[in-house]
Amino acid sequence: MTHRVLILPGDHIGPEIVAEAVKVFHCLGSEFGLSVELEYANLGGCAVDAEGSPLPASTRDLAAQADAILLGAVGGPEWDSLPREQRPERGLLGIRAELGLFANLRPAILFPELAAASSLRTEVVSGLDILIVRELTGGIYFGQPRGIRERPDGVREGFNTLVYGADEIERIGRAAFEAAERRGGALCSVDKANVLESSELWREVMTGLQADYPSVSLDHLYVDNAAMQLVRAPRQFDVMVTGNLFGDILSDCAAMLTGSIGMLPSASLDDRHRGLYEPVHGSAPDIAGQARANPLATILSVAMMLRHSLGESDLAGRVETAVGQVLADGLRTADLAGPTERAVSTSEMGDAVVSALKSQAG
Ligand code: IPM
Ligand code: MG
Repeated sequence: MTHRVLILPGDHIGPEIVAEAVKVFHCLGSEFGLSVELEYANLGGCAVDAEGSPLPASTRDLAAQADAILLGAVGGPEWDSLPREQRPERGLLGIRAELGLFANLRPAILFPELAAASSLRTEVVSGLDILIVRELTGGIYFGQPRGIRERPDGVREGFNTLVYGADEIERIGRAAFEAAERRGGALCSVDKANVLESSELWREVMTGLQADYPSVSLDHLYVDNAAMQLVRAPRQFDVMVTGNLFGDILSDCAAMLTGSIGMLPSASLDDRHRGLYEPVHGSAPDIAGQARANPLATILSVAMMLRHSLGESDLAGRVETAVGQVLADGLRTADLAGPTERAVSTSEMGDAVVSALKSQAG
């Protein structure tokens, strides 16, 4: 069966890192018999420039037909002054909402070879393996009403709405409990139930789900405490589940514990496991065009795609092994290299992963 994969290179370093992931697809095809058809479309700033919208109808159509989507990264300062509807981020939020990609899986795994790159002491982070499950299509990102208006006294005010339905909480809760069943069996739900009613309901629904997952232990933390615990003793966590805004913040924090945000993949899934896969890092305009970007988060996003959407767990494991291999061989892109280490370019790193994969084929 041929898998249809839509590639959205995006902006700045997006096309550079995606090109390396495409090499990996080609290698999986020639060496391991993976059958994929790759299609390309615009999303983000490049789509604004080429087609006048951050999420053009042509991209929407291809996305709806694809089995899975690989995204590089979107955004950059040149589009920041456009009206909100035209900004690159709108393309990303639009595709998440339109495809119903409510379950965002963000693993934060420390590769042993990179322990020294973390800003925390090695003994605090070694062996770190956290999965953050972030609700992605609800909460304050999408709640209505929202806007900027004028008060009766003439002063302007900005307002947003934090709203979660019990159905939205339940489906992200189930995704997180199921992930915890497959992993270490410990789920921590993060909320602000001491202040927010939406969190009060969140906690109630999460607690109610526990009876269906007897092998999983459930804890609750307030988000401020969770942020502190993440930098104090991050290894206490297995799976964390939280809403859209808290998940945005905590996942960046967890990512940095691993030393390089350039290493972390993510998956955004709908209820049928169709998904959009992207590196956690952004479009890095400051290093675009310099062949310095780390393609490993994008390549690891391909591994997540193989596992979660394409039913190719064996190949997913091979890609992850190949990434571990190049790190063990000492290859480092600029973000990972220590002051005395030579940094390899984006394409040297991609090529090294491809040769490590080929050597597995024997
Ligand atoms: C992320 C990003 C996005 C978000 C932005 C680019 C809209 O920060 O994927 O974490 O806030 O969700
Ligand atoms: Mg973010």
